[in-house]
Amino acid sequence: MSIARDLEAEHRSIDALLEQFVSGLDEEVRPGPFRDSARELRQHIYVEEAHLFPPLREAGIIPPVLVMLREHGQIWTVLDEIDAHLDDASDPAELRRLCEMLTGMLGAHNDKEEAILYRAAVEVLDPVVQEQISNAMVDDTLPDGWRCEMA
Ligand SMILES: [Fe+2]
Ligand SMILES: [Fe+2]
Repeated sequence: MSIARDLEAEHRSIDALLEQFVSGLDEEVRPGPFRDSARELRQHIYVEEAHLFPPLREAGIIPPVLVMLREHGQIWTVLDEIDAHLDDASDPAELRRLCEMLTGMLGAHNDKEEAILYRAAVEVLDPVVQEQISNAMVDDTLPDGWRCEMA
């Protein structure tokens, strides 16, 4: 049991749903996979910002956390833009462009997060704190109206 492995599995799941949405765009816009991906991604960002990053900051891992917070803000903004396009069912080419941008942002973000922050979490955080993060992942409760710190 490792929080790094579980958080990485969420990255893969979010990516897979996003990919499924994009690959279906040639036929028609089916919002389901995007909605699922975005819901899981917002929940994932919440667990990171509310449960993972504070103890990492306390452990002195400050600049990498700031980079992640900034990138979450950029990712969140693109999620909102895609949501807005889905709501008014506008053009698939623009949806594809935004999703490809999101995929690129997530790739770069997740690589750094996995190599630096998740590794540090397993190495430096108290097992009790790791357990709390793990429970927060299972709880799956994004507070109503919550937005990431730098959105
Ligand atoms: Fe993140
Ligand atoms: Fe993450």
